[in-house]
Amino acid sequence: MPAIISRGFLKPVALFAALVRGYANPGSCSGACNVHDPTLIQRSSDNLYFRFSTGNEISYASSSSIKGPWTAIGSMLPDGSSIDLPGNTDLWAPDAHIVDDLYYVYYSVSAFGSQDSAIGLATSETMESGSWTDHGSTGIVSSSSKSYNAIDGNLIDVDGTYYMNFGSFWHDIYQVPMNSAATKTSSSSYNLAYNATGTHSEEGSYMYKYGSYYYLFFSSGICCGYDTSRPATGEEYKIKVCRSTSATGAFVDADGTACTNSGGTTVLASHSTVYGPGGQGVYDDPSLGPVLYYHYVDTTVGYADGDKLFGWNAIDFSSGWPVV
Ligand SMILES: *[C@@H]1O[C@H](CO)[C@@H](O)[C@H](O)[C@H]1NC(C)=O
Repeated sequence: MPAIISRGFLKPVALFAALVRGYANPGSCSGACNVHDPTLIQRSSDNLYFRFSTGNEISYASSSSIKGPWTAIGSMLPDGSSIDLPGNTDLWAPDAHIVDDLYYVYYSVSAFGSQDSAIGLATSETMESGSWTDHGSTGIVSSSSKSYNAIDGNLIDVDGTYYMNFGSFWHDIYQVPMNSAATKTSSSSYNLAYNATGTHSEEGSYMYKYGSYYYLFFSSGICCGYDTSRPATGEEYKIKVCRSTSATGAFVDADGTACTNSGGTTVLASHSTVYGPGGQGVYDDPSLGPVLYYHYVDTTVGYADGDKLFGWNAIDFSSGWPVV
């Protein structure tokens, strides 16, 4: 860089930098901020925020603000899941909603790199420690005969009909209609997004409606193990999005490329000391509006999975595409 400046190229370099859109740094977090694959919800009785995350039979914490201070509560299902698969005492990728005045948290049972997976459901009236009932499998199950991996569930209510988005690698992101109680599948699944290149590394989808569009956010790239083996630059986790006027298909990116044909527009990627953001969701915060929340590595702290931190940014949808 000093060589470029001394040759008098400062102006073009500065202009180029201004044209490359920068990403906002993560909003502040205090207290228990170490998370992987967070999901957020507020309790209707007192507006307390609850944040669930991967590991420890679903770790969870509460706070009066998205910024913290977050207080760890413990495990959602301390005895693990009744789903009879390897990984049923680990539990990943929670997704929290209110359905018929009950708190629902979907979770995944799997093992890293395995297609022997299922998406389960736990419910509670209060979200207090010890209040959770495990309902086992939702019927979203995979093995090596399937084109998908049944993890990373995300429920959406589309005008009174529930759909579950899910999937990770293999043929990437799928969707399945659910019954009226959102407890079990009611039909067969179909593909929403697929990256034909590389290892088909799309996962962790989250669908959010804003204006007349359904936005399908997903994580693309390599999520984990950065402390032992870091992927090539740009192949680490990043957050991408596609949109459609229908919740059930025809998702395209900002260039118009179909998301079943490797499309996807980047919303947030590594920048400054933020590395590998992903495992995201969107929460319609009462004071901040739509918020993108995620986990990321702070390169000044450490690259281990356990060092991942909770990040969030308000989303600007004014261009029709989410910008943070
Ligand atoms: C598809 O995979 C390639 C190779 O890993 C990656 O560079 C690209 O960002 C991915 N695209 C999407 C939309 O996930």
